[in-house]
Amino acid sequence: MGTAPRRSSVSPSRAQSRRSLSVRAAKTENGPTIAIAGVTGAVGQEFLRVITERKFPYSNIKMLASARSAGRQYEFEGETYTVEELTEDSFKGVDIALFSAGGSISKKYAAVASAAGATVVDNSSAFRMTEGVPLVIPEVNPEAMAGYRAGGGGIIANPNCSTIIALVAVAPLHRLAGVKRMVVSTYQAASGAGQAAMEELELQTREVLDGKPVTQNIFPFQYAFNVFSHNSPMTDNGYNEEEMKMVKETHKILGTSDIRVTATCIRVPVMRAHAESINLEFERDISEEEALRALAAAPGIQVADDRAANWFPTPLSVSHLDDVFVGRVRRDYSRDDARGLNLWVCGDQVKKGAALNAIQIAELLL
Ligand SMILES: NC(=O)c1ccc[n+]([C@@H]2O[C@H](COP(=O)([O-])OP(=O)(O)OC[C@H]3O[C@@H](n4cnc5c(N)ncnc54)[C@H](OP(=O)(O)O)[C@@H]3O)[C@@H](O)[C@H]2O)c1
Repeated sequence: MGTAPRRSSVSPSRAQSRRSLSVRAAKTENGPTIAIAGVTGAVGQEFLRVITERKFPYSNIKMLASARSAGRQYEFEGETYTVEELTEDSFKGVDIALFSAGGSISKKYAAVASAAGATVVDNSSAFRMTEGVPLVIPEVNPEAMAGYRAGGGGIIANPNCSTIIALVAVAPLHRLAGVKRMVVSTYQAASGAGQAAMEELELQTREVLDGKPVTQNIFPFQYAFNVFSHNSPMTDNGYNEEEMKMVKETHKILGTSDIRVTATCIRVPVMRAHAESINLEFERDISEEEALRALAAAPGIQVADDRAANWFPTPLSVSHLDDVFVGRVRRDYSRDDARGLNLWVCGDQVKKGAALNAIQIAELLL
């Protein structure tokens, strides 16, 4: 193998210090009224943090969850908000409704919210593949939501978290050399399955270390000190739903079903942030240097690829960060030509895979 190319290497720990730590209130009279359906959950809580970090303007926030949480109070940007039960009447006067309460709740209430004039940004899988519903990663296909505005109604879908993290990295390379085939293996964190899954991982870890039997409520396998196939339902073709989402959503977002995609989705006992190994085949030769240049220039990406130190992104080092981190950019030597590359990609899926991506969509509505 030749000399390693010169690499733009940004360390996630250094990048961490760039994070916006501002807590300046984004409340403003002229801002939209926002509703967060599922505010008590992992993504719902992240919405609040991202609104503050990005100073997303709002005049009021309606905090919605199930009847179980009604009456719960949150301090947010100096004000006290009381969680209300999500009902059909929740969306009067709402301009932007952020949904993260699960697919069945989105199916039941997103159309109601849209009819009331709210523009819905939905984190569930309920409408992702519905014709006419834009499926948007703002760095990749913002044009898909042209014409949508806050208060104008309609539903925009946030893609699956693993798909977002993969495509933020893959899209610039696709534009450069045309991706023909993508083989992806995911290493998915507990946070992707919500607050209760994170609690189960923590509890089981303590139980194993204490020599106690493990409590299993969320996953079909012991999660602590284990690795297993993604817990989404199995489909007829032997792939689980998470894997098929990566196939179908990639086609919809990149606007072509010519790219052959195959995925293996795995849960790993990591609290937060997903990692993915991605093998790409291109229509033409592509060098590591070209790929690194395109990645470094693309929005939402940081290249962290230090071969000399054998140092690359990890879920821990990218947790709570906005960008998708790409490392281990290397030629696929199983091929006789120079049309193959391997990448290692890490991204915080509660953030870029869910709340941040949705708020970026909401920014495009203003
Ligand atoms: N976690 C991720 O990284 C991620 C990434 C992409 C997409 N998503 C999607 O985002 C959605 C939420 O995920 P999550 O991880 O935040 O889950 P979570 O932590 O389990 O939170 C679920 C939220 O939904 C609310 N909810 C449940 N039943 C409800 C009902 N009948 N009426 C109103 N609200 C109800 C819960 O309220 P209570 O507290 O009152 O029960 C809670 O606020 C899911 O569709 C998920 O697939 C998640």
